[in-house]
This record gives sequence, C-alpha cells and structure tokens, in this order.
Amino acid sequence: MAKPRIVVLISGSGSNLQALLDSPDLGGEIVLVASDTPDAGGLARAVDAGVPATSVRLADHPDRRTWEAALQDQVAAVRPDLVVLAGFMKILSGTFVSTWPTVNVHPSLLPAFAGAHAPADALEWGVKVSGVTVHYVDEEVDHGPIIAQRAVPVLDDDTVATLHGRIQQQEHILLPEVVAAICAGRVTRTGRRVTIAPA
Ligand code: GRF
Repeated sequence: MAKPRIVVLISGSGSNLQALLDSPDLGGEIVLVASDTPDAGGLARAVDAGVPATSVRLADHPDRRTWEAALQDQVAAVRPDLVVLAGFMKILSGTFVSTWPTVNVHPSLLPAFAGAHAPADALEWGVKVSGVTVHYVDEEVDHGPIIAQRAVPVLDDDTVATLHGRIQQQEHILLPEVVAAICAGRVTRTGRRVTIAPA
C-alpha cells in the first residue's frame, strides 16, 4: 500500500520539520513543505532532503482569503493524507483545516498557554511544569483535540530560550511519534478524546 502523503507547513527554522525528515520510521512520505515566508530556514532543509518546497506570502495577495486559497491550491495539488503544522505562524480557517486531517505542535501543555508566546507566558505565570502538545487543529487557535503531551520541568534559572530549547527537544521526539502513529492508522478520535493504539 502507498505510504500516506504528508504536507508540512512551516514559518521558521524548521527544526521540527528536520525531526520528521530524519525519522527512520515515519511510515509516511513528506511530499511538500510550504511556508508563509520565503525567509523560513526550514525551506532549505526541505530542499536539502529533496522535498519540494514553496512559499506563499500573504503580502502577495489582496487579502487573507485569497492568500489561504492560493496556499490551499498548492497543498491540494499534492493530494495529502495529513497536514502537519510545524511552527506555522498563520491562523488557518476552518475550511482549510477541515479539508485534511491537520495536526499542530505547540510548546506548552494545552489548554494552558495557547498563543504565540507559550514558553514566555509559562515562565511569567510561574508554573513548575510546562511541556509540549501535539493536537488536531480545529477552527480555534491551539484548541483542537489533544493527541499526545510530554511534560517538561521549569527550572529556577530558566530563561525563555532555555525553557523553549528543552521543550523543543521533546517536540522533536513526540511529533514524529504522533505522525508515525497516524500514518500507521493507530490513532482514534472520538469527540475530543484521542487514543493511540500500541505499535
Ligand atoms: C516550535 O517550538 C513549535 O512548538 C512552535 O513553533 C516552534 C517551531 O520551531 N509552534 P521550528 O521551526 O520547528 O524549529
């Protein structure tokens, strides 16, 4: 049987993309990496790995709707089975995220600290434990059903950079594990409850 086809959307350095590219048993094929900016470092990682890479800039379109439609056209053209948001910093509409199963990696234990500054928000709040969440994406930001989480302790001398760095180490393990489980058909979703069957 053909491997599930995966599109990865990025905006930044693409270290999570790299973890997916490096995973020996992902069970799926990354067929396209797309960014909302040509400056995303992750685009070079895709090119190095021989994966088609593209960027679709909001600034090149008259409004968000036509930008998203252009991005959606590029994604649809490669017929994905799964879309992975790996540091993609634009909000996508319910139409987009309900077209394909879509997952996101977020650097906190949701529902705590949704939004673009999760490690800073966790530090400022003073929590002793934060972590990483991989979740299905719905029409609300950082809100969809949680697939998997890993806790990361917050240390007394943490800065935003050191905390985010340790969270990212866990992201690089958890995201490929979840994507592999989805590709293997081991993930079941019932309402907000998601279970992963053993390999
Ligand atoms: C990650 O920390 C992810 O949780 C967040 O954005 C960051 C992306 O990092 N959504 P990278 O581009 O994968 O290095």
